[in-house]
Amino acid sequence: MEALSNKETPLPQEWPGIHYIGEEEVEAVTRILRAKSPFRFYGPDFQQETLHFEEEFAQYIGVKHCLAVSHGTAALQVAMAAMRIGPGDEVLLPGYFWVSTVAAVVRSGAIPRLVDVDPSFNMDPDDLERKISPRTKLAIMVPMGGVIGQVARVAEICKKNNIYLLEDCAQSNGASQFERMAGSYGDMAIFSFQINKNITAGEGGAVLTNNEKLYKKAYAIHDLGYTKDANGELVLDQPEYQLWGIGCRMTEVTAAILRQQLKKLDMIVGNMRGVKNELKEMLGQYSGIKTRHVADPDGDGGSFLKIIFKDHATARQFKDGLITNGICVKEGAFYPILMTEWGLHIYSKIPALVNKRSYSGHHSVWELAENNWARDYSYKEGTLPVLDDYVQRTVLFCVASKLTDGQRSLIKSTFQATCDQMGFEKTFAT
Ligand SMILES: Cc1ncc(COP(=O)(O)O)c(C=O)c1O
Repeated sequence: MEALSNKETPLPQEWPGIHYIGEEEVEAVTRILRAKSPFRFYGPDFQQETLHFEEEFAQYIGVKHCLAVSHGTAALQVAMAAMRIGPGDEVLLPGYFWVSTVAAVVRSGAIPRLVDVDPSFNMDPDDLERKISPRTKLAIMVPMGGVIGQVARVAEICKKNNIYLLEDCAQSNGASQFERMAGSYGDMAIFSFQINKNITAGEGGAVLTNNEKLYKKAYAIHDLGYTKDANGELVLDQPEYQLWGIGCRMTEVTAAILRQQLKKLDMIVGNMRGVKNELKEMLGQYSGIKTRHVADPDGDGGSFLKIIFKDHATARQFKDGLITNGICVKEGAFYPILMTEWGLHIYSKIPALVNKRSYSGHHSVWELAENNWARDYSYKEGTLPVLDDYVQRTVLFCVASKLTDGQRSLIKSTFQATCDQMGFEKTFAT
């Protein structure tokens, strides 16, 4: 078969929100700059963009409180500090995440304990239950690439065992499951608005919660360590809110961009979901090819499609086949990619975790007296057999948020040609 190619119109980079930055964002930023008021709390012609963004985003997710912050990583740190996670505490999290998730645990002084994944590549509730101990204070659900997993069951397990649940939804903005939004299940949730995310201002983050006290603590920590009264004056005399601030406030410029992006979120996610579900349906006709389990395909909210083969060699052959058959991406884009080529998303590829490095240059968290029960914890490959196996035989393909009809049909035909050339058989007629 003659190779198809999209060399003249390479597929876009994997930055969903970026492809929809338009005049609305430019105007919003210009308005803040003309008002000379880029700070979230006051200015000569203060626009209150951050406050409005917080109200709109809380309403979108269906949670009472939203606190806008500077980055997703800062949001993780603020949330964990609000939940008072520290030395002596164990935090359960899956081994498929972003390095920032586990970094926030270690920077809190707590011990990360890894939990294996289920076929949705999310935390496996059975393994979570097995690993909960009297030291467990928090479980973190990390829905990577917009697929939520068994979060309702995880929430029940956490409640039953009296531990907090944090949803790290950095990669799941706009995702839902049976009409309930990612970020609405946990005691707290965080989001990121960094360039790779479904909506973006380059950087940015948010902390969400229904719990008034956790919100007040998060608010204090993200600023100076103290809450404020109704007039915006700092309250210094409440012991519960005499904390240490990080100073990771969102700027008005960031919030102005995000208010415009938020209006486009459902459309962006919908575009990716439509193509992803078409590709999944097509791949589903072949025996020997699986995609990751998505309980509610109508709520799928990410750009990356995970395609699972019987072994590493077959996964490699499929990835190479897509490229040979004509998939060409813009400079800087990195898909299709084997999951083994993925970097700091997988526990065993994070040197500071595997080598249990110190955060401050003094003792590492594993050497602290309060954590001495965790001295022998290992983070080396082999710790999570189910995830390790998936990593070996999975190909990731980004479904960009903005594709022409021609690009969409080229992707489909390239996938089909690759499956046919590799001899995969259709299990039923189309
Ligand atoms: C799962 C996950 N958690 C946390 C973060 C951190 O967000 P940020 O880059 O905004 O600090 C990211 C972003 O890359 C992420 O993918």
